[in-house]
Amino acid sequence: MTNTRNASTPLCSNAKLLEWVKEMAALCQPAQIHWVDGSQEENDALCQQLVAAGTFIKLNEKLWPGCYYAKSDPGDVARVEERTFICSKTKEDAGPTNNWADPVEMKAKLKDLFTGSMKGRTMYVLPYSMGPIGSPISQIGVEITDSPYVVINMRIMARIGVRVFQEIDKGARFVPCAHTVGAPLAAGQKDVTWPCNKEKYIVHFPETLEIWSFGSGYGGNALLGKKCYALRIASNMARQEGWMAEHMLILGVENPKGEKTYVAAAFPSACGKTNFAMLIPPANFQGWKVWTVGDDIAWIKPGKDGRLYAINPEAGFFGVAPGTSDKTNPNAMKSLAKNTIFTNVGLTPDGGVWWEGMTDEPPAKLTDWQGKEWTPAIAKETGAKAAHPNARFTAPASQCPTIDPAWENPEGVPISAFIFGGRRATTMPLVFQSFNWTHGVYLGATMGSEMTAAAAGTVGQVRRDPMAMLPFCGYNMADYFGHWVKMQKSVKFLPAIFHVNWFRKSADGKFLWPGFGDNMRVLKWIVDRVNGRAAAVETPIGFVPNYSDLEWTGLKFSKEDFEQVMSLDREAWAKEVVDQESLFFSLRARLPKELIAERQQLVSRL
Ligand code: OXD
Ligand code: MN
Repeated sequence: MTNTRNASTPLCSNAKLLEWVKEMAALCQPAQIHWVDGSQEENDALCQQLVAAGTFIKLNEKLWPGCYYAKSDPGDVARVEERTFICSKTKEDAGPTNNWADPVEMKAKLKDLFTGSMKGRTMYVLPYSMGPIGSPISQIGVEITDSPYVVINMRIMARIGVRVFQEIDKGARFVPCAHTVGAPLAAGQKDVTWPCNKEKYIVHFPETLEIWSFGSGYGGNALLGKKCYALRIASNMARQEGWMAEHMLILGVENPKGEKTYVAAAFPSACGKTNFAMLIPPANFQGWKVWTVGDDIAWIKPGKDGRLYAINPEAGFFGVAPGTSDKTNPNAMKSLAKNTIFTNVGLTPDGGVWWEGMTDEPPAKLTDWQGKEWTPAIAKETGAKAAHPNARFTAPASQCPTIDPAWENPEGVPISAFIFGGRRATTMPLVFQSFNWTHGVYLGATMGSEMTAAAAGTVGQVRRDPMAMLPFCGYNMADYFGHWVKMQKSVKFLPAIFHVNWFRKSADGKFLWPGFGDNMRVLKWIVDRVNGRAAAVETPIGFVPNYSDLEWTGLKFSKEDFEQVMSLDREAWAKEVVDQESLFFSLRARLPKELIAERQQLVSRL
């Protein structure tokens, strides 16, 4: 690929890796093997190759420097939870919230599917580090893939290349990750721009620490470092090894004295995690600043000083484009302004991109994510979207204007608080604090979010999504709760745990809280609480702020408004407690007794 080396020459001498690559090559039968060195030249050549193949369009260099545009097959646009499997030895170890398949049967099935799957294609051997190379919290994977799009995206999302091979040569553990788009090419067959297969399998083997992914080239199905490794496989490692792999953003709050407090927060999808991670405080919060460490995943380990330390295992943001704008998230817009891959957004005639919500005024015309002509008039008539609702940007985290100076600190950043939250029109107040660790674990375990009209199911019905990990916990959720409960034994200074809800509505359906930058008011209270500088009142559900405990300058928000967004509706809570029971019931075989006790105490307090 690069003119200075022969890409088929192995870049690593680790016997286990060489043997596995040989085995996979024999199975997948690629036309050639390419050991990924991670260099700029290699990346440029792969981008050029994808431009020539029609998979990439180079965007206007003046408007979008270093950026490329891709559109996927319309049948390959999102993670496929129903095709995602946890293949532990027993079904009980995967638990009732995961799809389980017998590991021996599944391996046989995958070997069938992978046989000859890379014919006519290049097999890339892509080494990556989740987390800064050499950090005691980082982990290594090697993805074998026949998708150059995956290599290019992984170069943004993780640390890849020679430096990682060197770690493996030094003896570092690596997780083998096999990926194929499942679209072999016969001799002379013309390729499509987005090869994939109708059949899809995203498979995890937690006991042997392996990932196999077949049939998709998109997002979490194919960029195996993200959800597959950093959450499903890592949650298994973490449980075994006494750390935590969480679906959490990490941010640092700096106060006017220059003191920094880090928090990690778990919200289900579509609850504004990226926006919160890049929050800009209201204008009159002078001297306060929010620093971004990560927007999606946190790996957290007890440190020698008795605190919990977190790293962001990722190096980029794989963010949802629609709804992202200079108004909702200017820091994300600056992060994606250059060196970014856009997938399934609209393509404007001047070689730029656009998506719903990017600007108030849409472009007069563009090419939509399916390659069709799109105008505001067509959109009005047919409802056609310029961008797929799950269209994404893959942007380097280092380009974020608020990226924390310590974001690549190998030791991680000390976590002082965990925040759980969801989208709840009723019941859940703006913010409350748990009484203690176990109560906080209960808050995370019973976390829920309302389904929107876009999804199947009853609008307004609460879907339980414990710690936002429902699709990502690689083992039995009840054991996962047990692991959370147990973690308190290895941490001397436990983070405080909070629950927030930015989405409470009035009886006539209006949001009661402005959200976005004003979430800083809540964040300040949280940070002041953990630093012993803010008051709170005890209620049956936890500690809550008084009106006077929040900073209100610059926002018209009366005491009555506050009472409404904080109100504790006992009727609604009675329903909530009953509703929480169904998840616990499904997990009853292994549910930790501590959480059953928490539930009983909550009922009696209410
Ligand atoms: C994501 C998700 O893409 O949570 O981050 O679905
Ligand atoms: Mn996520």
